[in-house]
Amino acid sequence: MAKKHKAPPLKIPRSQMSKFDIKPSKIMIGTPGTPGFTEVRLDAEQVHGPAAGCTCELCRPQSSTRGGGDGGSDRRSSYEEFRRSMLREISRSAGISFELAISREGSDGQSAESAAYRAARKQVEKYLLTAELDVAWDDVVGNEAARAALVEAIEAPRLHAELYAHYGQRPLKGVLLYGPPGCGKTMFARAAASVIGRLHGKAAELVKINGPEIQSPYVGVTEQTIRDIFAFARLYAKEKGHPLTIFIDEADAILPARDGRSAPWHASNVAAFLAEMDGLEASGAFVILATNRPDAIDAALLRDGRCDRKIRVERPTREAARQILSRGFAGAPLAGGQDELEAVTDAALAAFYSPSRVLGNVRTGRGKDASDYPLHLARIVNGAMLVGIVERAKGIAFRRDLAAGVRTGIAPADVVAAVDEVERENKGLDHSHAVMEFIQTIGEQLGETVH
Ligand SMILES: Nc1ncnc2c1ncn2[C@@H]1O[C@H](COP(=O)(O)OP(=O)(O)OP(=O)(O)O)[C@@H](O)[C@H]1O
Ligand SMILES: [Mg+2]
Repeated sequence: MAKKHKAPPLKIPRSQMSKFDIKPSKIMIGTPGTPGFTEVRLDAEQVHGPAAGCTCELCRPQSSTRGGGDGGSDRRSSYEEFRRSMLREISRSAGISFELAISREGSDGQSAESAAYRAARKQVEKYLLTAELDVAWDDVVGNEAARAALVEAIEAPRLHAELYAHYGQRPLKGVLLYGPPGCGKTMFARAAASVIGRLHGKAAELVKINGPEIQSPYVGVTEQTIRDIFAFARLYAKEKGHPLTIFIDEADAILPARDGRSAPWHASNVAAFLAEMDGLEASGAFVILATNRPDAIDAALLRDGRCDRKIRVERPTREAARQILSRGFAGAPLAGGQDELEAVTDAALAAFYSPSRVLGNVRTGRGKDASDYPLHLARIVNGAMLVGIVERAKGIAFRRDLAAGVRTGIAPADVVAAVDEVERENKGLDHSHAVMEFIQTIGEQLGETVH
């Protein structure tokens, strides 16, 4: 249990309070339950400030350098000192720059703590997503297991708080979402932030960082960004009353395994991140890491108590693909109107899963044991590709109509032509992720492990 420091009450004469435009209140510095937490009571009747000889925790640093005096300007400047020292403490406990915090503090009587919150928010503003955050769990098609794991991690502690407490469960600090590109990891993170906002009746917000984007060539800058983000999360939770979702995409790029092969600065990123994860109870942030390469992330981050759940986000099954296509074509200008929705969806599905669409061969074994297996287009299908086919089909119909000066709408043949384009573009590209998945499937079918 962290020791709670209780500073002596700070009191300012009521007469001076109106002059300085402040009200009797309690000010908390730091986060309850964490080291350094201080509770300061601003009260009427007791003289506060160095000029008044106050020796409270916040006044003490100034009291040795300032003389007495009771004049109005002295009182004003001592109160200024007091405000500054308070802000310094709050900034220090939140880990943000004091100068920045003071520059954000308004003269409109706002509390120093909310000034610190605003300053911290400014620091991370470019990573903050507030728009386009109205994603529901069901918007992510398929992936039932991943959805169930996320619902349990995010909703259960809040919706079934009593039962949760009965079993002495502690809320999860974070999860890892991994799996092939374009299958819904980012969508899930947006849904998580949306749900957290909704559960607390607030607008959803998400800090979203791309691993490579915050990797700085300057020593210590990436670590500072990591600290800034978590410092903001601590203030955010206090200001809003609910946790901030922190989403780190391509997490392997900044938090790779410290195995001697990664650059030395990566070890320091990981250390800064681990320190923040370990202090997470205080902030109540919910961390989502996403990657296509879970094996490349430092194992210490993934151990229980940090990113407790590792959730695989899979490629769509054929049924899920049908749903994504059908949602995509719903409302689109189809040649036969929406009555043709099923026919268009079926045409796209049949084209994607056709056994005649082969991107190349995958060879397993060596010499006379070598076998070649066709890598079908179906093996690389992902949600983004399915959504994209709708746009491609629209483009094909548009170009045709433009040339002919007519308005015909999307026909099943346009959808097949769009899949032809996708197949052509993907031949010759690197599909190592899909190839690895395929090799594993072959191994399972053969009852052995294929490397
Ligand atoms: N399961 C899904 N259901 C519905 N739409 C999906 C699904 N998966 C992907 N999409 C569509 O593809 C787009 C890209 O998905 P998303 O960004 O979530 O993929 P990702 O797994 O994060 O990929 P990456 O690893 O490349 O970051 C989404 O905006 C959505 O339109
Ligand atoms: Mg993504």
